[in-house]
Amino acid sequence: MDSYRRLLEANRAWVDQKLAFSPNFFKDLAKEQKPEFLWIGCSDSRVPAEEITGTQPGEVFAHRNIANLVNPTDLNLQSVLAFAVDYLKVKHIIVCGHYGCGGIKAALSKHRYGVLDDWLRQIKDTYYLNQDEVRDAGNFDAQADKLVELNIHEQLRNLVKSKIIQKAWQEERRPTLHGWVYSLNDGLLHSLYKIQPGAPIHRIYQFDLSNPE
Ligand code: CO
Repeated sequence: MDSYRRLLEANRAWVDQKLAFSPNFFKDLAKEQKPEFLWIGCSDSRVPAEEITGTQPGEVFAHRNIANLVNPTDLNLQSVLAFAVDYLKVKHIIVCGHYGCGGIKAALSKHRYGVLDDWLRQIKDTYYLNQDEVRDAGNFDAQADKLVELNIHEQLRNLVKSKIIQKAWQEERRPTLHGWVYSLNDGLLHSLYKIQPGAPIHRIYQFDLSNPE
C-alpha cells in the first residue's frame, strides 16, 4: 500500500471514532471556532501541537514555522497573530520550542542551507547577544538547547513589541504570553516563561495607541 493511503484510511477511522463518541461532533464544529489558545510552534514533525497537549479540533489556533520564530516582516505569522488576537480573542499565546531543534542547530553552524540561512539569521543574533550564557552551557548539544530556550524568550519579546499585542493588552488585558519547551526525549512540556498583560515594555518599543492609525 502506498504510504499516503494510510493517512486517508486513518482519517475514516478517526471520523468513525469521533462520531461514536459524539454524533454531532463535526456539525457543531463546523458552525464556528472559539479557540482559547494561539500556538506558535516549530514545524518539526515530532512536535504536533494538539497531540502533545491533548487538545481537540477547535481548541488551538496554530502557526508553525522552522524554529518557532515571530518575525515582524512575516506576513503569514502576522496575519495569524492579528486574526487570533483581534477576531478570535485568544486568551493565551504559547510559543513552543523544543530541545534538539534542527533550526537552532543549523543557526549555530557555518553550514549553508540556502534560503533557510536568512530565515534563521535572527537566531544568530540571539546567540550574539547571549554568547557567554550559551557557551557556559557545555557541549554543542547543551549549547543548542540553551539557545532553544533563549530563542523562545526572544520570540515572546517580539510579540510584546507588536502593536497587536500592545493594543489587546491595553484594551482587554489579554492575552497572556507563554514560553514553553518540549522535550523530544520524554515527551514532556515545560513552562519556561510567562508574561502577563500589562507587563513593562521599554519605551522604545511602545506605541501611542490613543489615536487610530
Ligand atoms: Co525545531
